Amino acid sequence: MRRVVAIDGPAGAGKSTIARTLAEKLGLTYIDTGAMYRAVALRALRDGVTLDDSAALERIAVDAGIEFGAGRRTLFDGEDVSEAIRTPEVASGASKVAAVGPVRVALVAKQRAMADTVGVVMEGRDIGTVVFPDATVKIFLDADPFERAKRRAAETPGVSVEELARQIAERDARDSGRAESPLVQAPDAVRVDTTGLSIDEVVAKILEIAVRKEL
Ligand code: DC
Repeated sequence: MRRVVAIDGPAGAGKSTIARTLAEKLGLTYIDTGAMYRAVALRALRDGVTLDDSAALERIAVDAGIEFGAGRRTLFDGEDVSEAIRTPEVASGASKVAAVGPVRVALVAKQRAMADTVGVVMEGRDIGTVVFPDATVKIFLDADPFERAKRRAAETPGVSVEELARQIAERDARDSGRAESPLVQAPDAVRVDTTGLSIDEVVAKILEIAVRKEL
């Protein structure tokens, strides 16, 4: 395992923007594990696989060729699915397939392999608890629920803040309440509340934490 910066937290806490900026500043590879669960959900929805068919979902996850291109591009078996995985339907589906144990086992194996050869900033829900319990730096990003809904609204044209707040609350409850690798803060993770902070302020805080941890 190379250098791993683990960024976990609920939807809309600012994980993606922060993790991407950190990766750039630290010269590490950015990995969005949520995109992997979304890609599995997209394939299941397209293929008419029901989201509780554990065996079929496991097959999709095991066979999935998921790669990350420049910027925030996600490739699934060579197809650029970056936009297709961002719909509310896929977000909700991802949260369902993420509760299926064999799907998690398959995707966690891929995530670990990604850090074999390069240092990474990896964002998700279970990076500091399950994927890399020995991560160099662990951050748990959180923010006020209304602020999280407002941030998602800026990325999701045509959906109201109230509707997004409802969807986020539903997803949070499923992500935190599931039996398999629920969303929890690792005991040794540092919690950073991003409410009211700019991206630069959050990044500066985390860089300070990283420097202290790595000394
Ligand atoms: O971060 P996101 O919204 O793209 O994640 C999509 C879903 O995948 C979310 O409901 C939680 C789940 N997920 C997970 O269970 N474990 C991860 N490491 C990343 C995401």
